[in-house]
Amino acid sequence: MKELKKVSWRSPSNIALVKYWGKHGNQLPSNPSISFTLDKCYSETSLAISEKESADKDIQLKFYFDKKENLAFRIKILSLFENLAKDFPFLTKYALSIHSTNSFPHSSGIASSASSMSALALCLCDLEAKLKPAKTGADKAKFFKKASHYARIGSGSASRSVYPIASLWGETDRIKSSSDEHAIPFGEDVHKVFKKYQNSILIASSAEKKVSSRVGHQLMKTNPFAKARFKQANSNMAEMISALRMGDIEKFGVITETEAMTLHALMMCSTPNFMLMNPSTVAMINKIKSFREQTKQPVYFTLDAGPNIHLLYPENIKHKVIPFIQAELSEHCEDGRIIWDQVGKGPVAIK
Ligand code: PMV
Repeated sequence: MKELKKVSWRSPSNIALVKYWGKHGNQLPSNPSISFTLDKCYSETSLAISEKESADKDIQLKFYFDKKENLAFRIKILSLFENLAKDFPFLTKYALSIHSTNSFPHSSGIASSASSMSALALCLCDLEAKLKPAKTGADKAKFFKKASHYARIGSGSASRSVYPIASLWGETDRIKSSSDEHAIPFGEDVHKVFKKYQNSILIASSAEKKVSSRVGHQLMKTNPFAKARFKQANSNMAEMISALRMGDIEKFGVITETEAMTLHALMMCSTPNFMLMNPSTVAMINKIKSFREQTKQPVYFTLDAGPNIHLLYPENIKHKVIPFIQAELSEHCEDGRIIWDQVGKGPVAIK
């Protein structure tokens, strides 16, 4: 079938500083979260439409990952599109073909839902705008707000991937325009030291996640510490917003590490319980702490819901931190694997 229109987006992953863990309703967060947008970890997704062979209301979808048809991903996207068809009528009007790839290997232990779902949401909003240019107009801020909203429906953390540098999702009384429905840009608010912040991802294990985040969020419904956690997240948010604005690297680091450890502790005390670190994670955390104590360099870590470490440090101490990583930490990484990433400029449309 002849291709009628095609849109393509590259969209990055992000790493949460204050974590989203626990949700309700239609992917609404139990507490606000804030993240750095990454640079080198991204997805590239294209969405093409062609004439449909029949005039039914079914969604006709082909999904290719790394150029190969992928039925497991197709099922996930199909169920998402069924939910979104009332908002994007073209989903049932045309035959759809999606191609997606990630810059990082599928089995790197790096979650791809934030980058892939944000790339897909950007494609949906872009295609809609191209099909109905007069109605949707060209307001950039509105476009990204809408993309963030639909990225959220795909995967909560994906809502934060559509903005450069830093992004905030969920209502906080510190910021009037904050919302549970979509993320807002925070890049312009951060001090210049954070605009090129380094994020070296130390791959302790490339295995698939032990627990899906869907299950993790669900476990917060019965976690006995949930109420205290949501309160703590709100106060950490307020402190983090001020640390990011002021360029207070130490305060930023202390909150970031507390958030990472809290996320893991919450999983350890859920029923059923889960241990998401492995011995390499623990060994690296201990070495990072001693390095910081001995050298007084502001090197802090965070973790996603898995064993890999995201080491965060300012660009101007790269020459001190990289030799430390190579000499002390890389031996704990699976096959010595490290992704040398940093804070990034946000998504781009691919021509
Ligand atoms: O977007 P989800 O549903 O995969 O949840 C992600 C949750 C964490 O990555 C652990 C934290 C966060 O805020 O990104």
